[in-house]
Amino acid sequence: MHIVDIITKKRDGHALTKQEIEYVIDSYTKGEIPDYQISAFLMATYFNQMNDEEATYLALAMRDSGDSIDLSDIKGIKVDKHSTGGVGDKVTLILGPLLASLGAKFAKMSGRGLGHTGGTIDKLESIPGYKVEIKVEDFIKQVQDIGIAVVGQSGDVAPADKKLYALRDVTATVDCIPLIASSIMSKKLASGADAICLDVKVGHGAFMKTEEEAEKLAKLMVEIGKLAGKKVTAILTGMDEPLGHKIGNGLEVYEAIETLHGKGPKDLVEVTLTIGEQLLLDANLAANQKEARSMLEASLNDGRAYQKFLELVKAQGGDVDKLKHPEDLIAKEKVEVLVPKDGFITEMNALDIGKAAMRLGAGRETKEDQILLDVGIDLHKKIGDQVHKGDILATLYVRNKGIDEAKSLLLNAITIGHQKTEIKLIKKKIS
Ligand code: URA
Repeated sequence: MHIVDIITKKRDGHALTKQEIEYVIDSYTKGEIPDYQISAFLMATYFNQMNDEEATYLALAMRDSGDSIDLSDIKGIKVDKHSTGGVGDKVTLILGPLLASLGAKFAKMSGRGLGHTGGTIDKLESIPGYKVEIKVEDFIKQVQDIGIAVVGQSGDVAPADKKLYALRDVTATVDCIPLIASSIMSKKLASGADAICLDVKVGHGAFMKTEEEAEKLAKLMVEIGKLAGKKVTAILTGMDEPLGHKIGNGLEVYEAIETLHGKGPKDLVEVTLTIGEQLLLDANLAANQKEARSMLEASLNDGRAYQKFLELVKAQGGDVDKLKHPEDLIAKEKVEVLVPKDGFITEMNALDIGKAAMRLGAGRETKEDQILLDVGIDLHKKIGDQVHKGDILATLYVRNKGIDEAKSLLLNAITIGHQKTEIKLIKKKIS
């Protein structure tokens, strides 16, 4: 097989065979094909796309480029969730303990944030002592013992995706649906869960800006999962505004703790419960959606989910005492941003609000950037709220970095109009 022939075939709009895709991935992982040829292959794919079979072969080839985690020693159905990335998305921090408190086995490998989107691993690292890197045997044992572990991705899961993603980043080929779907699914399939719920974000702050694109991505990922023998569901949820009120690592842990005490913001709770219902059903722990919801609500409200969160943090070396005073996880210096005029908030560009948090130091522009775990934004207003000039729009928790830029990004992200607007949060379910 020759890479030039495969590039030509894709350039001319033909579908590739399983063998051809395996050849590309295998040879590239071994360093036998140079970046410039894979760049041409990616660009040909970007313009001519891939059909469902090709995207599945690509996902499976990338899964098989490294280790797959074998969770079969853990009794019961193992569940996992994945978000395509958003602003203020701290659902995993709440959903994992919540599901584990109800008997599910939540074995999760998470990522770090990049650009305007946050990552669960950074958020957990804002808890002093919390270890995100643990041996695979210990990861499995922890899920057996307490029903939950949330760790960083182990070194050799889907190495082909790691290499390809870095190349896509610098060749303008990230936003291509078959490449995104196979990239996400290669890692999910390698992580070993039986049932996976994908939270596909739609809106300004997400990869997918329209519901149509998001649905296409969701359907393809569900199809790849099915062809790989897994139970996969996708839920399309809105990212027209940040999820919840708090953005930034320590701040998001703070809001997750409030939510685990039954005092979470409505949108964050709704997304968490919707995904939770699906995974409880997939794990055969609830007979129907209504029962699943009432089980989830009961655990959030009676403290079982919070206790499970404490168990998780303790098991991974975190300082549980610090969680009693979550305000210690955030920067002491505050800057208030005021509402500039009367009206109703009609838009909150989540992308720009994510960028504002990044400028304060909460996120990284490049993979190598160091982040500040205690800075970020607490939004006091959300879409649909009536506001008056001079109200506090947001409190910035800062450390002498990017304050003016963050303020102006935030103010430009907000539209104030005359009429109350409502946005739809849970848009569609695809299974
Ligand atoms: N997240 C991934 O893991 N891969 C992509 O291609 C895009 C988002």
